[in-house]
Amino acid sequence: QLADSLFIINNFARDYFVRTIHETDEGQNVGLSYFEERGFTEETIKKFQLGYCLNLRDAFVREAQHKGYNMELLQKTGLVTIRNDQPADNYRGRVIFPIHNQSGKVLGFGARILVKSDRAPKYINSPENDIYVKSKVLYGTYFARHAIDKLDECLLVEGYTDVVSLHQAGIENVVASSGTSLTTDQLRLIKKYTRNLTILYDGDNAGVKAALRGLDMAIEEGLNVKLALIPDKEDPDSYVQKIGVEGFRQFIAENKQDFILFKLQVSLKEAGNDTTKKSQLVNEIAETIARIDKVEDFTKQQDYIRQCSQLLKIDEEGMVTLVNKYIR
Ligand code: CTP
Ligand code: MN
Ligand code: MN
Ligand code: MN
Ligand code: MN
Repeated sequence: QLADSLFIINNFARDYFVRTIHETDEGQNVGLSYFEERGFTEETIKKFQLGYCLNLRDAFVREAQHKGYNMELLQKTGLVTIRNDQPADNYRGRVIFPIHNQSGKVLGFGARILVKSDRAPKYINSPENDIYVKSKVLYGTYFARHAIDKLDECLLVEGYTDVVSLHQAGIENVVASSGTSLTTDQLRLIKKYTRNLTILYDGDNAGVKAALRGLDMAIEEGLNVKLALIPDKEDPDSYVQKIGVEGFRQFIAENKQDFILFKLQVSLKEAGNDTTKKSQLVNEIAETIARIDKVEDFTKQQDYIRQCSQLLKIDEEGMVTLVNKYIR
């Protein structure tokens, strides 16, 4: 079966990249040094099976062919491309983050360039294929699932390195959306372990917008969504390394806020004294509140109606009527 073959190739490639980073000179001097300079320990590098792809045209693909792996399948995994009629390694000179499914099988890879460049993307990720479907994957699920279940909370970050750094700091209930906006399938994956989602995105505009896009979907899925914005110019990786894990935990505890109320405050600020904008905002909030399951979470819905009408300075009864209008 095709899926099985792709898993087997990814497994081989993962082992190859891990061997390369630990056992070759270039791997150690370039790949391992890179991670160590970023503050990742040997233990962390091993746990996440981080690797390195030699900066040669086709070292990996030659080894793969030598072992008898099929060229068409190698291309399907995105590990290999055809360049000038010859097979070439796609991740050469990059450090490698294997992306695992919930049971630890390798679905694909994220490959990071070592030095920023205008000519090449920072990350090259596996293309979609029979086993890697981007919209269904959250990076780190395999390493985080027990902690998420135990703590009954899932932290959501943007990037691979955020997951790795937080784990190393002892915060293990964390997964990454890998820079894309959240999908329903990803929210359902989280819901298998917990209903409590805390989003830790950058405080910049893009981070806030990306977080807001996922809100209505998350409410619809019955998740309780909270948000803590990471200070400007930082991400969870850089921030936890900067202030230490106790400081980081404290920051989250102090800044964690309810997502619906956060959205309301952002929009209120935007609307200012503009009455048209404000009435539009009232409708939007009513629509969001209407997505809360009235049967399962009746008191939760009531609470939001009360708190939001207060913040909006409007009549609570009117809000109830409006919310009911939006319930489908
Ligand atoms: N991303 C990507 N392709 C890019 C840039 C980003 O796929 N060209 C994804 C990656 O999954 C990345 C995430 O978006 O981890 C967040 O992007 P960014 O914050 O730019 O990267 P970091 O994870 O912070 O990586 P680093 O610290 O190494 O810069
Ligand atoms: Mn649970
Ligand atoms: Mn950002
Ligand atoms: Mn970063
Ligand atoms: Mn980042």
